[in-house]
Amino acid sequence: MRMYDCISAKKAGKELSGEEIDYIVKGFTEGGIPDYQMSAFLMAVCLKGMTEQETLALTMAMAKSGDMLDLAPISGKKADKHSTGGVGDKTTLIVGPIVASLGVPVAKMSGRGLGHTGGTIDKLESFPGFKTGLSTEAFFSQVNQIGLAVAAQTANLAPADKKIYALRDVTATVDNMSLIASSIMSKKLAAGADVIVLDVKAGSGAFMKTKEDAAALAKMMVKIGNGAGRSTCAVVTDMGQPLGYSIGNILEVKEAIAALHGEGAEDLMDASVTLAAQMLLGAGRAADFKEGCAMARGAVADGTAFGKFCEFVAAQGGDVSFALHPEQFPCAAIEHVVRAERDGYIHSMQTEEIGLVSLGLGAGRETKDSKIDLTAGIRMEAKIGDYVAKGDALAVLYTNDAAGVAAAEKRFLSAVAIGQDAVGKREHVLAVL
Ligand code: URA
Repeated sequence: MRMYDCISAKKAGKELSGEEIDYIVKGFTEGGIPDYQMSAFLMAVCLKGMTEQETLALTMAMAKSGDMLDLAPISGKKADKHSTGGVGDKTTLIVGPIVASLGVPVAKMSGRGLGHTGGTIDKLESFPGFKTGLSTEAFFSQVNQIGLAVAAQTANLAPADKKIYALRDVTATVDNMSLIASSIMSKKLAAGADVIVLDVKAGSGAFMKTKEDAAALAKMMVKIGNGAGRSTCAVVTDMGQPLGYSIGNILEVKEAIAALHGEGAEDLMDASVTLAAQMLLGAGRAADFKEGCAMARGAVADGTAFGKFCEFVAAQGGDVSFALHPEQFPCAAIEHVVRAERDGYIHSMQTEEIGLVSLGLGAGRETKDSKIDLTAGIRMEAKIGDYVAKGDALAVLYTNDAAGVAAAEKRFLSAVAIGQDAVGKREHVLAVL
């Protein structure tokens, strides 16, 4: 078998066999296939697509490229959730404790921020002392003891995806449905949960810009998950504007804590409750979706979800006093208010741009080795459909880098469209599959 022939076949739109896909994944992961050949192959996939069979073969080859976790030492049906990535998406911090507090074990591997999107592991590291690098034994024992653990992906969990993703990131080959589906599902299958709930984002801050594309990606991933014997479902949620009001690590942690006290924004709570309900349903803890939603809202209202969050922070070595007194978190030195330049209704937001503004303020990484500023980010003061008068606050920018504020403000203002006609509020949950 030759990589040249595989590239050539894909370029001609032919379907590759399972053996050919195994050969490509193994060869690239082990270093026999160079970056330039893999890049050419990935671009051919973007231009010609992959069949369902090829996508499944790619997923399984990447999942099996490293450890396949066996969660059998953890009792009960284990649930996991995964978001395709968004701006201000702190749902894991809310959903994990809700579901665990209702008796369903959540054993979750999470990632760091990627491009304009944030990552749960970075957010959790806002707590002084919080450890995200857990050994497999510590991970299992924590889930058995308190029902919830969130750990950084180990190096050997789907290493093929790690290597391929790094190449996609720099060769404009991220936004292909088969590549996204296989990337996400390879990690989810390797992470071992019995129940997988996917949060597929749609809109200007997501990889999938339309609801239709997001639903197609969701269907593809659900089919892969169920085909591999895991109970898998997907929820398509709106990413046409940042989720909730905060973007950036400490700001998002504080918003998640407020949400667990029952003070969450409507969009954030709708998405979180829907995801939690699907996890409860998949694990057999709720009889139907409606009951799952009521249970999730109940766990927030009676404080059990927040109690579980505190247990979880403490179990991973974090200073729980910050959860109890979030005003202790450090603040950025600069808080700059961005004001509306005209009267009108907020019509739309270029959410990816807003994520990039936050990244530029210090909340994300410019390169994979950049250090993030946990205090940096953005607090939105208005959402789509809101009326603002000229001079009203649209957002507050938080940073320790005075030099970048003017450019950040300009970029933020051009990412928010204000018009004269009233527009409706956006729907939060677009589909449940
Ligand atoms: N998240 C992933 O893990 N992989 C993708 O390809 C896109 C989002």
